[in-house]
Amino acid sequence: MQTLIDPFARPITYLRVSVTDRCDFRCTYCMSEHMQFLPKKDLLTLEELDRLCSTFIDLGVRKLRITGGEPLVRRNIMAFFRAMSQHLGSGALSELTLTTNGSQLARFAGELADCGVRRINVSLDTLDPNRFAAITRWGRLDQVLDGIHAATEAGLRVKINTVALKGVNEDELFTLVDWCGDQGHDLTFIEVMPMGEMGEEMRLDQYWPLKDLRTRLAERFALTDLAESTGGPARYVRLEETGQKIGFITPLTHNFCESCNRVRVTCTGELYMCLGQEDMADLRAPLRAGPDDALLEQAIRAAISRKPKGHDFDYSRQQVRGQMSRNMSHTGG
Ligand code: GTP
Ligand code: 5AD
Ligand code: SF4
Repeated sequence: MQTLIDPFARPITYLRVSVTDRCDFRCTYCMSEHMQFLPKKDLLTLEELDRLCSTFIDLGVRKLRITGGEPLVRRNIMAFFRAMSQHLGSGALSELTLTTNGSQLARFAGELADCGVRRINVSLDTLDPNRFAAITRWGRLDQVLDGIHAATEAGLRVKINTVALKGVNEDELFTLVDWCGDQGHDLTFIEVMPMGEMGEEMRLDQYWPLKDLRTRLAERFALTDLAESTGGPARYVRLEETGQKIGFITPLTHNFCESCNRVRVTCTGELYMCLGQEDMADLRAPLRAGPDDALLEQAIRAAISRKPKGHDFDYSRQQVRGQMSRNMSHTGG
């Protein structure tokens, strides 16, 4: 079968799927406190998600990342992980992974490892309990640290994602780096992105360019740029003193779109060809039209044929440009 190649000759081998828009946290840069969530009938069922992902895997997707919202709050989500793990078993899929806030890991880490998950990404912006409560509004730091511990015990590698927030976690740069070093976790910093409707001004205030963060890091460590890439947006450096690898995701200051190998599906079956553009294709209609996968495949191919070259995020001239009206919880990062 012909695999998926976009108009810029980029093979599409990486699918990110959001399985729910719900979350048990309310991070200030992600959601408003009183988020309206989607009615259940709009969500793809677990069976539909299985059919959808399996079709993408037939079309050449090799890496599947499950996101949300918080993916582990979706009821019976382990049934979906077990279904996907069969594609690991057959060799069709090379990686099954997830991005999580860590709150439910104490319950699910063992089962995830059994399903063939090897590495997970956990969001953690601070190691200070009060600050953690302020950023996530509803989260408790202990719960997440316990979850991370359970994941490590289950044999999962953990990568920490930290959103760099000026005036919020700036002073924890070295604390976070040292903690990840001690615990053996990789660490990636993310620039805050202009997603969603709330707090544009706040977001500009909180924008901490990773160029500055890197300069701070270089005051204490010798940094070596690494050439490697996961095909994702992160660029890596090694801290010579500790051997640690630190990643930087700079959607606003670095254009990594040339090598983009990914597309995203929301929990309602919208296929977004780019995180930073509004264009999307509805896959729920072809899924619900009947059991024949031909319609679905056709819709996927048509969408990939209009994958854009890149995004237009820009914070320059003190304005938020290229801003997206979707929240991150909608497209799943
Ligand atoms: P790998 O792709 O497996 O290397 O991991 P990752 O670091 O990209 O995955 P993760 O889910 O941890 O993503 C971290 C964050 O990076 C996302 O939530 C987004 O904020 C950002 N990000 C990921 N992919 C893209 C992308 O294609 N474009 C932009 N602008 N940001 C992205
Ligand atoms: N800008 C940057 N990162 C964000 N995330 C959520 N919203 C934003 C935003 N507006 C991050 C989370 C998590 C990942 C899935 O996306 O902190 O690490
Ligand atoms: Fe939930 Fe993640 Fe959004 Fe925080 S950033 S509210 S943990 S989906």
